Amino acid sequence: MRRKLIAGNWKMNNDLDDSLALVEELKSLSGKFDKDADVLICPAFVNLYHVKQSLSGFDIKVGAQNMHFEEVGAFTGEISPAMLKNIGVDYVIIGHSERRQYFNEVDETVNKKLKAAHIHGIIPIVCVGETLKQRESGIEKETVKNQIIKGFENVDGSEAVKTVIAYEPIWAIGTGRTASSRQANEMAYFIRNCLSEIYSSDISDKVIIQYGGSVKADNAKEILTQSDIDGALIGGASLKAEEFYKIINYAK
Ligand code: PGA
Repeated sequence: MRRKLIAGNWKMNNDLDDSLALVEELKSLSGKFDKDADVLICPAFVNLYHVKQSLSGFDIKVGAQNMHFEEVGAFTGEISPAMLKNIGVDYVIIGHSERRQYFNEVDETVNKKLKAAHIHGIIPIVCVGETLKQRESGIEKETVKNQIIKGFENVDGSEAVKTVIAYEPIWAIGTGRTASSRQANEMAYFIRNCLSEIYSSDISDKVIIQYGGSVKADNAKEILTQSDIDGALIGGASLKAEEFYKIINYAK
């Protein structure tokens, strides 16, 4: 039985004061969180340490939104996996479409980051998804399969099983337009099959596959009750404690 992972991607929102205020609100609600879901928040780099400290003793995990794959050295402006691990970061989002679109993230760097995260015991959340044009041309599955094959190249099964995949159709991110639950589940199922081809069904059955793209309190239940969707990666709606809490507790 796969546990649900409800993750908030705060993107470039919230300064330190705003981050800590939002964390306080989440802490006050956390006693009522659904026990069947793991909860994760991903603040900006500069706020990670303080958010992590503030969450001490609370069952809310903390993730970064990116990292470099190199261990150490002359990479001005970059953050290493060891630096994240050192301050207690549990997860890292890799290959988000905004990073692919604006910061030259490509499948090869996604692959390097995925491996580097595992070396340091950080759980990677690998984002995949097609553009509207690719969906309209009927090549959405081919696109996602390619991202999976390249992203997981030379990653062994013991690491794959501990990797989270977020299916985020680019046309649904921040647009208010969600994929239908059928479209989302169909792709999650397809991704699981790709993993089964690369590894085995034993492994693919265990991998957590999230959906992301305009998830809100009022559509969370419909999406999260699909057979192959094991959680959500949430942008805008994770910035309000009450809304995020309602998504976590979608089943109630
Ligand atoms: P959104 O973002 O929920 O604001 O659409 C999702 C994401 O980019 O992870």
